[in-house]
Amino acid sequence: MVKPEAVLSREEILRRTELFIREQLAGDSSGHDWWHIARVRASAMVIGRAENADMYVVELAALLHDVADWKFHGGDDSAGPKAARAWLESLAVEGEAIDQVCEIIATISFKGAKVATPMHTLEGRVVQDADRLDAIGAVGIARTFAYGGHAGQAMHDPTLAAEAHATFADYKSKRTTTINHFHEKLLLKDRMNTTAGRRLAEARHAFMETFLRQFDNEWNGRS
Ligand code: NI
Repeated sequence: MVKPEAVLSREEILRRTELFIREQLAGDSSGHDWWHIARVRASAMVIGRAENADMYVVELAALLHDVADWKFHGGDDSAGPKAARAWLESLAVEGEAIDQVCEIIATISFKGAKVATPMHTLEGRVVQDADRLDAIGAVGIARTFAYGGHAGQAMHDPTLAAEAHATFADYKSKRTTTINHFHEKLLLKDRMNTTAGRRLAEARHAFMETFLRQFDNEWNGRS
């Protein structure tokens, strides 16, 4: 018979979850590696404290928000919440926290610039902001090129116009380039949920605009 384990402290649950995720994402080269998770957690802690969020839910959700992305799960949006629920239940995390974390994971993935993904809780808005911050700025630029290479996309092709996708299906199916992705990312600044997140997004947004201007100048032999 399996002896029931003693109730784990929140610190221990967070520690084991971090180890679990580090192991799951080891070797990922698509831009959703462990260091993405570590950066999202760091930003989420800063934003969450500023916004008086429940930091336990924020940290768990930040750690688990891409739990199923490493496989790209064949487009199955429910793979992430399912994997997170199984993991948290195995640690006997209280049901309410599991529900909150899983709802955040189900809602968070980027589905195209025009597809709204409203978060119902403050904790969700915090983690979503932290995830969006990692898509912009210097790190966002590096991740976009890393992902483009992984997906076999051209870096830039002036004949393929940038477009904001109206549906998730559209976003998944259209051929595009890495530079075109930037134009969708430039819309993120105005979609930040929280005051703290918006403030952090400003500088990263400005840096990306500078980068794009310089890229365009070099592409056209102007500098
Ligand atoms: Ni993410």
